[in-house]
Amino acid sequence: MSDLDPSQPQRPPAHGIEEGDHPLPGWWSLAALATAVLAFGSIFLSVIRPDLTDPAASYDRAVTAELQAQFAEIGNLAPTAGTMGAFMTDPEKSRWLRVGQSIFAANCVSCHGSDGAGVSGPNLTDDHYIRVRKLEDVAETVIGGSIAAGMPAWKDQLSMNEIVLVSAYAASLRGGFVEGKERDGEPIDPWFPGGSD
Ligand code: HEC
Repeated sequence: MSDLDPSQPQRPPAHGIEEGDHPLPGWWSLAALATAVLAFGSIFLSVIRPDLTDPAASYDRAVTAELQAQFAEIGNLAPTAGTMGAFMTDPEKSRWLRVGQSIFAANCVSCHGSDGAGVSGPNLTDDHYIRVRKLEDVAETVIGGSIAAGMPAWKDQLSMNEIVLVSAYAASLRGGFVEGKERDGEPIDPWFPGGSD
């Protein structure tokens, strides 16, 4: 529509309204600048230090810090039958088996299954074992692995406390008899003399 179109009514004059030149308020420009700086800053940071900005990495750091704080309570564990047995039998220490369970969930289930019934790795819920004869052999296997057979060595991946706790948890799965991978190895004596498993 043009001003010259006679069929259209003429626009009224602008009644004294004039276009003024009003600069943006200072606080607005400042807020806009701050937002831009923050945005570019965080993009930059996520590129140069992804470990600081990645939520998964900061979660891992929090979990590690939490574990270290908790481990102060149990001190440095040794991979002996006595230490492992205490975590498996003493009700006061049983919450540490839960820590072992979460280490198992994070590192072992891909081969041993979420219930320990075995996938590529052997079923840990029955009485048959390939390498293990005594309780401490569980920790020994976790520490050194059985590389040729596909069981990784964990001594450089997990702390000794984590190894002891995950081994105690893995040993505690015995006797649960979850149907899974067929029995490998030989039946072995109970963990504890006189015990059933
Ligand atoms: C990449 C696969 C894989 C992962 C991951 C794995 N394992 Fe294993 N594991 C195996 C295999 C395979 C064997 C059998 C080794 C053999 O035949 O000598 C085995 C054996 C074992 C044994 C000895 C069983 C027996 O019959 O003597 C224990 C105990 C064990 N693993 C515990 C663990 C724990 C605890 C973790 C996690 C920290 C873990 N494994 C992670 C594959 C795995």
